[in-house]
Amino acid sequence: MKHEPLVLGIETSCDETAIGIVRGRTLLANVIASSVEEHARFGGVVPEIASRAHLEAILPTLLQALSDANISMKDLDAVSVTAGPGLVGALLVGVSSASALALALDKPLYGVNHLAAHVSVDLLTHNKELKPTIALLVSGGHSSLLQVNDITSSIVKLGETMDDAAGEAFDKIARVMGLGFPGGPAIDRQAVDGNPAAIDFPRGLTQSSDWLTRPFDFSFSGLKTAVARYLESTPDYAKSDVAASFQEAIVDVLLLKAVRACKESGIDSLVIAGGVGANSRLRALAAQRCARAEIELAIPSPALCTDNGAMVAALGSLLLSAGARPSQVGLEADSSLPVEVLSLS
Ligand code: KG4
Ligand code: ZN
Repeated sequence: MKHEPLVLGIETSCDETAIGIVRGRTLLANVIASSVEEHARFGGVVPEIASRAHLEAILPTLLQALSDANISMKDLDAVSVTAGPGLVGALLVGVSSASALALALDKPLYGVNHLAAHVSVDLLTHNKELKPTIALLVSGGHSSLLQVNDITSSIVKLGETMDDAAGEAFDKIARVMGLGFPGGPAIDRQAVDGNPAAIDFPRGLTQSSDWLTRPFDFSFSGLKTAVARYLESTPDYAKSDVAASFQEAIVDVLLLKAVRACKESGIDSLVIAGGVGANSRLRALAAQRCARAEIELAIPSPALCTDNGAMVAALGSLLLSAGARPSQVGLEADSSLPVEVLSLS
């Protein structure tokens, strides 16, 4: 049997210090230390606090991951790390740690794209052959539709948000509704008892002219304003109905455009990736609509949708197996790395 590579992945782009270990496409360890509680009172991630928390957490997280996977460092075949996009000070902690490890172990280093890593994590749970797919990538910092021709070499951006990311919209609306941070899970919970049809909130960029000019772009600023106006003008509003109706408006648009991208590209496979992929309504409605449109749907488990190290290890492992050129030790983090650049040279 072919030897499957043992790859360690380090993720420090935002507020999670996360380390995953995979053997080929099998997940062996996935350890996450989050600093989210330290940011909660500021209502968003504070970069300096995140960087300091990464410094404190990186070594214990690494040791825990090695222990969970029951391996020693010298067994590793490669080290993979998020090189961007993300907060530069936070990324630097991961990139310099990974460089040091790769140098000490004399093993290849892959500085990978955080967004492509989100998409690739699905391959740990759905062990199917690599084939072209459309990816709906919805996180706290990004919302885009991607055509993934080959996860190790070719991603094409079909469209993206013109303003807020989907997760950012969840976080902002949760804040004005006093539901806390991060807002996505809070709105998801609040919406369970609400009526998604209670309030008809706008669906951005879905007019007939938008379908001609911006079919795969998103805009959530009009929705945000509409919700804020509704809250101001309706002091005794029902929180659960607002949460459910707001969530429905976002999820509806995301899926309308994702299904359309599958149809127009002739690719009958959709992966949903990123933190918002953990949303229960998005998962349920995606299953319904993809079944109707005969699209094969894959969504990683909620824990693998939000930031983690397993996704970084997964992409590193796929790149190594595909014979991709490793990155240079001492590579620089790139806080605005475009999604098309899968790994740094
Ligand atoms: O991918 P991720 O963990 O970090 C980034 O790369 O940004 O995404 C975090 C985002 C946050 O905005 C959070 O509110 C959102 O994902 N999120 C959710 C849910 N869980 C996390 N949004 C909606 N519903 C959820 N259940
Ligand atoms: Zn992310």
